[in-house]
Amino acid sequence: MPSLVKSLHTASAALAAIVPLAAAVPAGVYPRNVTAAPKIILDNDWSVAGFITYLLPLASDWDVLGLVSDTADSWALQTGLHALATLEVGNLSCIPVYKGSDYPLIQTEERFQAWEAVHGVLPWEGVFAKENLTYEAEGNDPTSGNPDRVSRAAFFEGFPNTTFASDTNAANFMVEQVKKYPGEVSIYSGGALTNIALAVRMDPDFAKNAKELVIMGGYIDVNLLQTTGSVMQADLNSDINLIVDPEAAKIALTADFPNITIAGNVANQVMSTQEFLDEVHEVQNVYSDLMFNYYGTEFPFWDETAASIILDPSIVTNSTQFYLDVDVAYASPSYGNIHAYQEALAPPNVRLVNYVTEIDGAKLKSMIKKAVQYPKTCAQL
Ligand SMILES: *[C@@H]1O[C@H](CO)[C@@H](O)[C@H](O)[C@H]1NC(C)=O
Ligand SMILES: *[C@@H]1O[C@H](CO)[C@@H](O)[C@H](O)[C@H]1NC(C)=O
Ligand SMILES: *[C@@H]1O[C@H](CO)[C@@H](O)[C@H](O)[C@H]1NC(C)=O
Ligand SMILES: *[C@@H]1O[C@H](CO)[C@@H](O)[C@H](O)[C@H]1NC(C)=O
Ligand SMILES: *[C@@H]1O[C@H](CO)[C@@H](O)[C@H](O)[C@H]1NC(C)=O
Ligand SMILES: *[C@@H]1O[C@H](CO)[C@@H](O)[C@H](O)[C@H]1NC(C)=O
Repeated sequence: MPSLVKSLHTASAALAAIVPLAAAVPAGVYPRNVTAAPKIILDNDWSVAGFITYLLPLASDWDVLGLVSDTADSWALQTGLHALATLEVGNLSCIPVYKGSDYPLIQTEERFQAWEAVHGVLPWEGVFAKENLTYEAEGNDPTSGNPDRVSRAAFFEGFPNTTFASDTNAANFMVEQVKKYPGEVSIYSGGALTNIALAVRMDPDFAKNAKELVIMGGYIDVNLLQTTGSVMQADLNSDINLIVDPEAAKIALTADFPNITIAGNVANQVMSTQEFLDEVHEVQNVYSDLMFNYYGTEFPFWDETAASIILDPSIVTNSTQFYLDVDVAYASPSYGNIHAYQEALAPPNVRLVNYVTEIDGAKLKSMIKKAVQYPKTCAQL
């Protein structure tokens, strides 16, 4: 058993114990407050219809400490402005938004496109699709080019009148919150893992004092599915969240969080349908309008699936565990994809993760419906 994994087991056993913790606690693990409301920080590449992932924890009476934006489908500035705007329309601007890192740790537009020239283009290229200002002017979020530019045409929810929290940067915000509430903060990632990797590297005690890390992304054994259907089918089985920043994914997914849960293939289980959009829209408010008009029926409830697993682990109807690594070889066609091992065959410095394979889809839909139809506002937080 790799020694990292052994110390992880010790750490999670200690965290599960009731406070105050005795002297047996490993160095760097702080006591936790078991009576407090569960807390979450959501890191995502926010978009016009991306608000459901924070409405879900609010509907479950969780304390949303803040939102962090990352660069994955578009640049962190644009995605962070979407977070500010979607909070503003629902009177939720008391939740702070921290703009994350503009660039992945080492990936760039040029490097990504050179990789594609060798290994083939991805059906969904996220932020590294070629810059196209005509396309942006039609209402699409910016890709490639200058990370500081904003495409106002994409703000169908309204352009924000509020501003980013500026007391610190995104990674340090996460570090500080975990220090303040040791063992209590769930870290959610629906985009690239850049900011989380920065937090892991900045503070060696960050990961082990968080409660858990739950991510959307990390598909496995889907290569055949990428060939047997349409390009859209391949799109649904590509993995842009990890591929945008493979090195960050490796750092975050091998760090000593007490618990890591991966919503990969399962994120494709529950599709958005017109029937469901109509059903949610039976109660009209600013969020159900935005969902009705902009969620669409092309994509499954990817990010919402990962969020639901944090809020109600009993939604999981099938899962497995394995030792996970991320391919960080630039010369590899699976650069940025995960690789799974059994314990006896795992390389050093990887760890056991939970890999969810099936959820209760009806339950997910009922959670989404309640969260969107009856959203809280700051007055109720
Ligand atoms: C623990 O959380 C409860 C409820 O939020 C709060 O009243 C209490 O002060 C907290 N205790 C510590 C030691 O932080
Ligand atoms: C910001 O204010 C302007 C002017 O009142 C408004 O048009 C816009 O919709 C507001 N933005 C948001 C996100 O509510
Ligand atoms: C937000 O607050 C304003 C002012 O109190 C109110 O007019 C508006 O209806 C609220 N919007 C939502 C979505 O609660
Ligand atoms: C840029 O976007 C426009 C509008 O969608 C499209 O017609 C055009 O083909 C795109 N250009 C390139 C080079 O992809
Ligand atoms: C880890 O997370 C999984 C999935 O969310 C959950 O079922 C499990 O109970 C968690 N384990 C611990 C030790 O918290
Ligand atoms: C869980 O998934 C595995 C792998 O797909 C399958 O073999 C097993 O039968 C499933 N178990 C349940 C209870 O559905």
